[in-house]
Amino acid sequence: MQALIEGEAVQSLNFRHRETTLLEGIPLAGFVLRLRRYFGACHRCGKGFFMKVLITGGAGFIGTNLVARLRQMSDVYIRILDNEALGRREHLDGFDGEFIRGDITDRDALDRALEGMNTVVHLAADTRVMDSIINPAFNFAVNAHGTFSLLEAMRARGITRLVNASTGGAILGEAQPPVHEEMVPRPLAPYGASKLTAEGYCSAYAGSYDFKALSLRFSNVYGPRSFHKGSVVAAFLKRVLIGEPLVVYGDGSQTRDFVFVDDLCQGIFSGMTADATGVIQLGSGQPFTVNKLIEEIRLVVAPRPVEVRYEPARSGEVHTTWCDIAKARRKLGFDPVTQLEEGLARTWRWFLDRTA
Ligand SMILES: NC(=O)c1ccc[n+]([C@@H]2O[C@H](COP(=O)([O-])OP(=O)(O)OC[C@H]3O[C@@H](n4cnc5c(N)ncnc54)[C@H](O)[C@@H]3O)[C@@H](O)[C@H]2O)c1
Repeated sequence: MQALIEGEAVQSLNFRHRETTLLEGIPLAGFVLRLRRYFGACHRCGKGFFMKVLITGGAGFIGTNLVARLRQMSDVYIRILDNEALGRREHLDGFDGEFIRGDITDRDALDRALEGMNTVVHLAADTRVMDSIINPAFNFAVNAHGTFSLLEAMRARGITRLVNASTGGAILGEAQPPVHEEMVPRPLAPYGASKLTAEGYCSAYAGSYDFKALSLRFSNVYGPRSFHKGSVVAAFLKRVLIGEPLVVYGDGSQTRDFVFVDDLCQGIFSGMTADATGVIQLGSGQPFTVNKLIEEIRLVVAPRPVEVRYEPARSGEVHTTWCDIAKARRKLGFDPVTQLEEGLARTWRWFLDRTA
């Protein structure tokens, strides 16, 4: 019975969310809606909310940005499960939902975190490609087995709506860009393999247990709240801050698809409410070499000097990748609008404020 109610709530979510968002625009109706929620909704247990979402890894870079976005929506209740391996509860400034400090590999923590929820956004992961090469067993335990445990815990509770964070370049390996969803995956590092395994189980649970499981393959995400990240934009801006040369592995001709985190979060939210399943890529759809990125960074951080040191290329890293986002546009109405220069400027301002 519980499963049925949860399932029905999710079915009608898309419509109800649009309906209430529209009503909020009308002064009297919006006022009445807010009053009803104020007295009828409980921020401690989620009662009275249309969408009750568990975000695993919600204290991390993408999670904190997603939470900031979802908090603006009065009919979304948020619970976070994060072991604070990298993210921190205090990064969730002003967050008034629930935070559970726990690990996705721990079934008890998963059961507590899923209680009463109807939607899951699964972001928790061991995210570093190089670390996965050093310790593939740990990477497998968190990304592959952790996702499997999450799916099993969801199945036990009849929760079937899941947005799974996946990755583009690392899953496909060296492939002729622009890469797309129909390409045969050939991961070059354990990180890509574990993410592919997780995608496989999401697909299997959609096929076998009627899950609405959608794996979103993110390209290189950058933006505010990424100070702890080792990804290229965050790493470069931290080097600029301390006045050290940027370190480039290879000659800088390697190409990436940099998507701004606000645009990405718009895509994740669409994924939470759309009926799409399977795999969809989210990126900017535009290629930039690392050398071009450095040029843009020079403009944004001026008059600070930007020195560059080139080192030998590292194994396990894809040389050239960017993605075709036609499917995301079609299925999710995805429309990444932030140009690299603007996104870098906003990221740099956040880095400066954080270190001021
Ligand atoms: N940032 C990117 O460019 C990018 C690109 C492709 C895919 N992704 C995927 O997006 C997701 C979020 O990435 P992010 O950049 O926000 O990373 P992040 O490291 O900032 O966030 C991950 C969060 O998960 C938590 N976590 C790690 N292991 C956990 C565990 N076992 N149990 C509970 N919590 C755990 C960490 O403490 C952290 O807060 C990941 O699945 C990642 O693989 C990110």
